[in-house]
Amino acid sequence: MRMRAAVLEEFGKPLVVQEVDLAEPRAGEVLVRLEACGVCHTDLYTASGADPSGYAPAVLGHEGAGVVEAIGPDVGDLAVGDHVVTLFSPQCRECEHCRSDRTNLCLAIREQQNLGYLPDGTARLSRGGEPIRHFMGTSTFAEYTVMPQIALAKVSPEADLSRACLFACGLSTGLGAAINTAKVQAGSFCVVFGAGMVGLGAVAGCRLQGAERIVCVDMSEERLELAKGQGATDLLLGGEDVVQRILDMTRGFGADYTFEATGLVSVMRQAVESARMGWGLCTIAGVAGKGETLDVVPRYLITGRRVCGSSFGGVKGRDQVPVLVERWLAGDIDVEPFVSHTMGLDQVNDAFDLMERQDGIRSVLRF
Ligand SMILES: NC(=O)c1ccc[n+]([C@@H]2O[C@H](COP(=O)([O-])OP(=O)(O)OC[C@H]3O[C@@H](n4cnc5c(N)ncnc54)[C@H](O)[C@@H]3O)[C@@H](O)[C@H]2O)c1
Ligand SMILES: [Zn+2]
Ligand SMILES: [Zn+2]
Repeated sequence: MRMRAAVLEEFGKPLVVQEVDLAEPRAGEVLVRLEACGVCHTDLYTASGADPSGYAPAVLGHEGAGVVEAIGPDVGDLAVGDHVVTLFSPQCRECEHCRSDRTNLCLAIREQQNLGYLPDGTARLSRGGEPIRHFMGTSTFAEYTVMPQIALAKVSPEADLSRACLFACGLSTGLGAAINTAKVQAGSFCVVFGAGMVGLGAVAGCRLQGAERIVCVDMSEERLELAKGQGATDLLLGGEDVVQRILDMTRGFGADYTFEATGLVSVMRQAVESARMGWGLCTIAGVAGKGETLDVVPRYLITGRRVCGSSFGGVKGRDQVPVLVERWLAGDIDVEPFVSHTMGLDQVNDAFDLMERQDGIRSVLRF
């Protein structure tokens, strides 16, 4: 079939919206008619050329939500008409990692996905017979996508897909960092560095876990106000003295849980140093620049602090994204304030500009 998609032709140049070909789903694959897609930093990072593993031409986008239009052979878990959220982090339910409750990093299709192909090593996207690669296995800046069924979460048909798409990346990453990775205990003292989509999700996750104090740190007053709406009890402007200010708030001990959602290694260090001696757990969700390293004085670890990373919030997508969506529908999570701009596929480059200017939390494309 022919459809419109935003193609990364050349790194550092605007995406080009154009007609491309999409082949039928093969075994284990599903054709999804996309309704909406959030625009995330990872799309911009790849488009800019900063990501060393990037490839072109490719259809970008990974925060998608839509409706199953057709299924290929051997698809058992999804049917035409199902509402789905796309998963750049799949869940095959069979590999060693999927069978463990200690990680969400499914091993089933990693290699081909990293190369921009579907699991059988080929692309369904093409133009004039030349293949176009599938970004993050999702390619959701498009009217349709073909994806393996193990990378689609079936969600409630009640969910507005123009909001549900946020659960495909940033929001689940933040929520999951608090709920799955850190497993925040009720009554605890938490600090979240960064009030973008991921940090705000972490604030909401800490609240859902019953944290008593949730301090949010950011450089933007406007974003800190949004954090308040998600349950932050204290707002701090970031800076050099922030660790000391957190120690002052905790009788010199530090926080039970800290979360880093900025991607800055200097802030990661602050998140480690403001975790409590004895048991403080620092969860890193931000993606640092290529070649950057995190500086930690080992004494912080000897005295009982722990550091861990979190990819997609430790969320096993097919099992847990539907549950998070249910919690939103039940009124536990307020998604509306995250959507700052809604636009069509043709405006995808404007969405990148807004992101670079830090104007709003998320732009959502509607198809
Ligand atoms: N782990 C994952 O699976 C995953 C998934 C999605 C995104 N990410 C990463 O998470 C990070 C956050 O993503 P986002 O979409 O929320 O980004 P964002 O840019 O919207 O938010 C980052 C926030 O950090 C704030 N900030 C900047 N300097 C600061 C400082 N010194 N102290 C405190 N706050 C400061 C900014 O003002 C901004 O509000 C990025 O690095 C992104 O690549 C990770
Ligand atoms: Zn993302
Ligand atoms: Zn797996």
